[in-house]
Amino acid sequence: MAKQVFARILENRLIAAAAYSMLLECPALAREAQIGQFVHVLCGDKPLRRPISVCRVREAELTLVYAVRGEGTAWLAERTCGETLDILGALGNGFPLLDASARLLVVGGGIGVPPLLDCAIRGGAGHVDAVLGFRAHGQVILEEEFAAACAGVASNAEPAGSVTVCTEDGSYGTGGRVTVPMEELLRKNQYGAVYSCGPLPMLKAVAETAAKYAVPCRVSLEERMGCGVGACLVCSAKIRRNGTEEYLRVCKEGPVFNAEEVCWE
Ligand SMILES: Cc1cc2nc3c(=O)[nH]c(=O)nc-3n(C[C@H](O)[C@H](O)[C@H](O)COP(=O)(O)OP(=O)(O)OC[C@H]3O[C@@H](n4cnc5c(N)ncnc54)[C@H](O)[C@@H]3O)c2cc1C
Ligand code: FES
Repeated sequence: MAKQVFARILENRLIAAAAYSMLLECPALAREAQIGQFVHVLCGDKPLRRPISVCRVREAELTLVYAVRGEGTAWLAERTCGETLDILGALGNGFPLLDASARLLVVGGGIGVPPLLDCAIRGGAGHVDAVLGFRAHGQVILEEEFAAACAGVASNAEPAGSVTVCTEDGSYGTGGRVTVPMEELLRKNQYGAVYSCGPLPMLKAVAETAAKYAVPCRVSLEERMGCGVGACLVCSAKIRRNGTEEYLRVCKEGPVFNAEEVCWE
């Protein structure tokens, strides 16, 4: 059940080129938010709320990580500590929790990386590897947080999970696309699932790579949204389920879908 809450801003800081991390005090949502869910944020006098994924939940606090794209997110970037934010959440169907014995591979691209942090921390998996892709060094976010998350979930008997950062222009980490290190990991290890969030062409390539190794894959889709709660149908995505194609609402049935069901076009 979506709740409207007025969350106190505890921190709002620039963490990379035009990307901000906002820490909010909102116990009611923090108690309930599941991995991969999002909140719908009222941005000043804009009539439509903006969807932002939950990046991290800790006790009574939520972290959102967002990029400045237009007027709404520019307004968010100007907010300061002590102000309150009107948010609706936690919304949508997130990523399922994995069995504790399963190994998880998370693959993120750009501003799709934040929701995967909580997957790495709370996904229920015994061992997590992460592949994170960005356009260039200036856009890299959350590398240290993923390193801590992947190391923290490894048991004493196993080596710590790995974090591979890729940049398309080769200015940092491994040069090129995320699917190259992803495939190396799939060749070496047995995974229970691949969870991914990022731009659509990347999600399609990740889904194809996971399918090649017969590993179940879930992707978090991004569509423009109106209401955020299933009423306006603005956010529909074409999904193939039980042999028939249907339009499902990214805000309600998603944003996370089984990659095999997504009609990539
Ligand atoms: C489920 C979901 C989770 C998201 N999580 C994050 C996140 O964690 N961090 C982050 O930086 N961004 C995230 N986004 C994208 C973010 O919602 C848009 O960047 C933001 O709405 C842009 O608003 P704006 O006013 O700054 O831009 P404008 O372009 O001025 O927005 C105009 C309108 O278009 C909508 N819109 C524009 N771009 C998008 C988009 N890509 N997706 C959905 N609606 C859009 C806005 O909500 C608004 O109604 C997410 C989107 C979805 C659907
Ligand atoms: S945004 Fe209105 S139904 Fe999804």
